[in-house]
Amino acid sequence: MDKSSRLPGFYKLGLEDQAAIIAERAGLTASEKAILMGEGLSPAQADQMIENVVGIHALPLGIAVNFLINGQDYLVPMAIEEPSVVAGASFAARLARDGGGFTTSSDEPVMIGQIQVLDVADPQAARSELLAQKSRLLQLADQTDPLIVSLGGGARDLIVRVVEDSPSTSSGRRTVGPMVVVHLLFDCRDAMGANTVNTACEALAPEVEKITGGRVVLRILSNLADRRLARAKCTIPAEVLAFESFDGQTVARRIVEAYALAATDPYRAATHNKGIMNGIDAVAIATGQDWRAVEAGAHAYAARSGRYTSLSRWSVDADGNLVGTLELPLAVGIVGGASRVHPTAKVALKILGVTTAQELAEVMAAVGLAQNLAALRALATEGIQRGHMQLHARQVAIAAGATGDLVETIAGRLVAEQRIRLDRAQELVQERLDIGY
Ligand code: MEV
Repeated sequence: MDKSSRLPGFYKLGLEDQAAIIAERAGLTASEKAILMGEGLSPAQADQMIENVVGIHALPLGIAVNFLINGQDYLVPMAIEEPSVVAGASFAARLARDGGGFTTSSDEPVMIGQIQVLDVADPQAARSELLAQKSRLLQLADQTDPLIVSLGGGARDLIVRVVEDSPSTSSGRRTVGPMVVVHLLFDCRDAMGANTVNTACEALAPEVEKITGGRVVLRILSNLADRRLARAKCTIPAEVLAFESFDGQTVARRIVEAYALAATDPYRAATHNKGIMNGIDAVAIATGQDWRAVEAGAHAYAARSGRYTSLSRWSVDADGNLVGTLELPLAVGIVGGASRVHPTAKVALKILGVTTAQELAEVMAAVGLAQNLAALRALATEGIQRGHMQLHARQVAIAAGATGDLVETIAGRLVAEQRIRLDRAQELVQERLDIGY
């Protein structure tokens, strides 16, 4: 079967036809297809997942097409409520495809766990002693998860920091003395790894207390997973960026100009990175990831220099191509957690077809870069409101009670009249009902 993710005209098909194509491509069973059509997470399953469950909260699941990553095609499931995101990712992926697609890479899936030690008489001596006993401590950490160790993961390193800084009172007195902070680096293979790392940190804590003579408080992973970075790059021939009255070189230059503000100004960087996370979060949610962890890691990484900045970079190369790169921590997993419990997440992972957590992280990085490109291209040329409003108008029409074909008809009128308002949509729906539409 043709495995290309390039599906011209896919967006024009109805939901049933789109789902049928994706089901066929991904080899979904009838029950997996039924999951897509609403037979996903049951109230009973939900009740096992969290507390005080009173129902199910659903989101649209879309498929971004056109993604070519390291020479391989991917159909990318995205769960998101915001219009334009799936269309934007698909569009930008097509532009990138013209330059050979995305190339990606990622670090080994190493997470950091922190053990905070207080009341240490001589922090520097404690540090030296912890490092002297590193291999014994790493062995102890390995014993907490033999399965991950058998799969090639496990404890990798121990780093010990002495943190002098702590909050102070208004009179300038430090509220907490210097802290010894142990970082346990643990390769979590295909798991996101929070449980693994937290368990290992808790197991090491009594030994750390014995060695340092101090008192352990926190034993928890860090969401600044900067040992687990994923990277994506795309090179786009300027001519494919040509759009309406804008020639390709102008669009490329304007994208670089737009990026310059994100690189230097936190007010813009926050919005720029939000656009990147539109794509990354949508894949994270679709595939059952802890998207808060992904978000926390991304923004902490964006501020690593002490000044919050853009996660991506854009430039024009010597041949006039637009070149984009993105690097961020992506602590994601394909075993454990919701990725293996939530029925829709399992189907989403099957559609995506990734076989390792690193591959998932790399796809997410490519989607983030694509999303960023789609936003910058629109912002640097016509602005995002035209396309956005078209889609927004559909939601307004639905909110006004339009169904079936009437949704497009009413949305078209709202856009043409430049009055995308609920009261106007309600009037139009009423008019249609009055004439017996
Ligand atoms: C909207 O959800 C995202 C954008 O604001 C991103 C950006 O400004 O780059 C369009």
